[in-house]
Amino acid sequence: GSDTEQWIRQPIVVVLGHVDHGKTTLLDKIRGTAVAKKEPGEITQHVGASMVPASVLKKVTEPLRKFFPRLTVDIPGILFIDTPGHELFSNLRRRGGSVADLALLVVDVVEGFQKQTYEALNILKEKRVPFVVVANKIDRVEGWVSKPDSSFLESLKSQSQRALAKLDERIYVIVSKLYEQGFEADRFDRVRDFRKTVAVVPVSAKTGEGIPELLALITGLVQQFMKKRLVTKNEPAKGVVLEVKEEPGFGTTVDAVIFDGVLKRGDTIVLAGKNGPIVTKIRALLMPRPLQDMRMHEGAFTLIDQVVAAAGVKISAANLDDALAGSPIYVVPSDEVLGEVVKAVREE
Ligand code: GTP
Ligand code: MG
Repeated sequence: GSDTEQWIRQPIVVVLGHVDHGKTTLLDKIRGTAVAKKEPGEITQHVGASMVPASVLKKVTEPLRKFFPRLTVDIPGILFIDTPGHELFSNLRRRGGSVADLALLVVDVVEGFQKQTYEALNILKEKRVPFVVVANKIDRVEGWVSKPDSSFLESLKSQSQRALAKLDERIYVIVSKLYEQGFEADRFDRVRDFRKTVAVVPVSAKTGEGIPELLALITGLVQQFMKKRLVTKNEPAKGVVLEVKEEPGFGTTVDAVIFDGVLKRGDTIVLAGKNGPIVTKIRALLMPRPLQDMRMHEGAFTLIDQVVAAAGVKISAANLDDALAGSPIYVVPSDEVLGEVVKAVREE
């Protein structure tokens, strides 16, 4: 394509919530579904993230077409990021907000709101990140009879009145906690205006129930309200340092989330360091090996020449020892503007 070629990138969706409420299990389930449903050759594993491509979104949400005939998928996929602690989420900073386009606030439907749920909610408020509440572990609701890997709306049909009432009770508790925190919320299938009401999606990360709705909802919300934010083009990349990591054979590397443009091996980048901006040249760009075999061990990387936003990628370069997590990463398009880019990083 030409230099002005534009595209809609994948939304960056960050998962957060109280410890043990099921963030990682949810992403594992989504990733497992993606691996099962995808065509060979589509990489789903990124550094610090998982990519669910459009083809998988289409297949997973297909059973919902009878409920929502107008459902279409025109984003290229969704990039999911797990955040085991709030710190990692805070690292995703971006001028005027967060790199996260959307967040999933995972709440154990039986345990309800806990300390870190409130903390996560406050961070989302402060950063103004739109979010969906995932009411997880519905398989643990009294009397629930699981229908593995089916949609929530399908599973509902085979539940007893008692189980349905119990679920609604639990969801109501979550809805009232959200209300106390200043948010109107409702079960997703009762929401009329998604700009005003936070959607609560009941799922089981264990059985997969509700995953089709969750992926359909993310897709629909993003397509309806966020497309402008997702437009990117063939220009020097912008990203953020998620983590700084020692990697055997590569020295100190940074795991980066790229949210704009194209990042290439050989690019000169500027990022923040403990003692001021670091200017360095990308020696290698690393992606996890395709996840055909799920038993991949850490350190199994593939070298690539470039990545296109959105992506999670490991960057190997000299002088990264002092790099700071949460730092912006800017590519220097030409020597003449090096000073400007350094200034931009210093000021951010
Ligand atoms: P941290 O990363 O430590 O904050 O926890 P997490 O939020 O990633 O939770 P994780 O996915 O590790 O799940 C915690 C426990 O809950 C594990 O034992 C899971 O198997 C279990 N679990 C997660 N989702 C479900 C679910 O939908 N149903 C049931 N029954 N158990 C679940
Ligand atoms: Mg986890």
